[in-house]
Amino acid sequence: NHVLVPWIDICVAAATPFMRVDIAMQTDARQMSGHKGMTMANRKIFVLNGPNLNLLGQREPELYGTTTLGDIETGLRQRAEQNGFTLAFHQTNAEGTLVDQVHEAMAHGAGLIINPGAYTHTSIALRDALLALSIPIIEVHLSNIHAREAFRQTSHVSPVAAGVICGVGAQGYARAFDALCALIP
Ligand code: DQA
Repeated sequence: NHVLVPWIDICVAAATPFMRVDIAMQTDARQMSGHKGMTMANRKIFVLNGPNLNLLGQREPELYGTTTLGDIETGLRQRAEQNGFTLAFHQTNAEGTLVDQVHEAMAHGAGLIINPGAYTHTSIALRDALLALSIPIIEVHLSNIHAREAFRQTSHVSPVAAGVICGVGAQGYARAFDALCALIP
């Protein structure tokens, strides 16, 4: 019961030849149906980060940049405040904890931004958890997973997300936030 709008690929050639923004917007009854009766009380956006993202800034900076996860959180908190949202921002290295946090977003969130790290490519449990949500989901990756190793080019999350932003570094989180706001009534 959903209609897929063709992928929009914006090549950001000035940055690196591999940078790309992929936004797959889908009109999906499952994504939209959870918002009826939404009040200010549940205008909370969840931002979930998977394994090794606590090391952002130190970990492979040539690939992931020098912005830390703390910097990203600070920027998003400002953005949330400006747009009348509150923010729940988490990072975990444990798959089960990430699933628990998705359940928390299901209970208390108006929208979800998720960078699942390597669980993107491996976790059916995470995908199943996301499928239970009726709020919009945006998947984010700092690097362009499509331009990397073959094992990174499959995402179990993308088919259940409203949109995907990857390859533009830390600013991808801000882009994801803006896209999510537009999907929350
Ligand atoms: C990542 C890409 C994943 O393939 C990798 O395992 C990460 C980070 C990214 O943000 O580019 O941990 O999600």
